[in-house]
Amino acid sequence: MSIRITIDRQEIETEEGAMLIDVAAGNGVYIPSLCYVRGRPRLGTCRTCSVRVNGKVMASCTVPVADGMVVEVDEPEVADMRKALVELLFSEGNHNCPSCEKSGRCDLQATGYETGMMVSRFPYRFPRREREHAAKSIWLERDRCIFCQRCVEFIRDRGAGRKIFSIGGRGTSARIEMDIELADRMPPEQVREAVTLCPVGCILEKGVGYDEPIGRRKYEIRSIREHTLGRKQK
Ligand code: SF4
Ligand code: SF4
Ligand code: FES
Repeated sequence: MSIRITIDRQEIETEEGAMLIDVAAGNGVYIPSLCYVRGRPRLGTCRTCSVRVNGKVMASCTVPVADGMVVEVDEPEVADMRKALVELLFSEGNHNCPSCEKSGRCDLQATGYETGMMVSRFPYRFPRREREHAAKSIWLERDRCIFCQRCVEFIRDRGAGRKIFSIGGRGTSARIEMDIELADRMPPEQVREAVTLCPVGCILEKGVGYDEPIGRRKYEIRSIREHTLGRKQK
């Protein structure tokens, strides 16, 4: 059913039940996202896609549009809240972009640029989570994990469909874990899928960390805004 909603005072005609984040992208309104993958079940873990819907803050990747909905994306207070969430993610991990294999193709880094973040307003925690090197072709830089759960939910063993990645521990001792036996059975294309799906440089493929030349990586040739809107309009 065709309905009308308003995003930043722009009237938009759309279909009832579509996800707000997709409707926004389809109409040229950029909303940052880190855990959402279009066409896959919603995770709602990062909250970086937060907007105001009818006066209430909500994660736009979890909200189906409804007739008469009034959405605020670019309102300064809401934009600053998204920026604060991105800053929090930086302060909860160890992110040294110039030496990171994912630099230039990292969604968190790109989101930092897009939200205008310069430095985190929160104290840096400098976690010390051991790296995982035991698998044949994958290694984990655990201090860069933002706990989005993409790998946990979307990367499964191709045999019995078991989870390969999981989050162990709680609070400050939480860390990403990998079933080494299952990881060693992943075909090369699934390894690359996991590396690409991880929005940061936590899941990495051994031996190819700098395979794509710096200067030609996806966010070095276009912004996350263009990348996101372009992808979602297809
Ligand atoms: S994971 Fe992203 S934000 Fe973190 S150091 Fe690497 S490029 Fe920077
Ligand atoms: S390893 Fe990557 S994909 Fe998995 S939870 Fe951490 S950030 Fe998300
Ligand atoms: S992208 Fe919406 S909660 Fe993460």
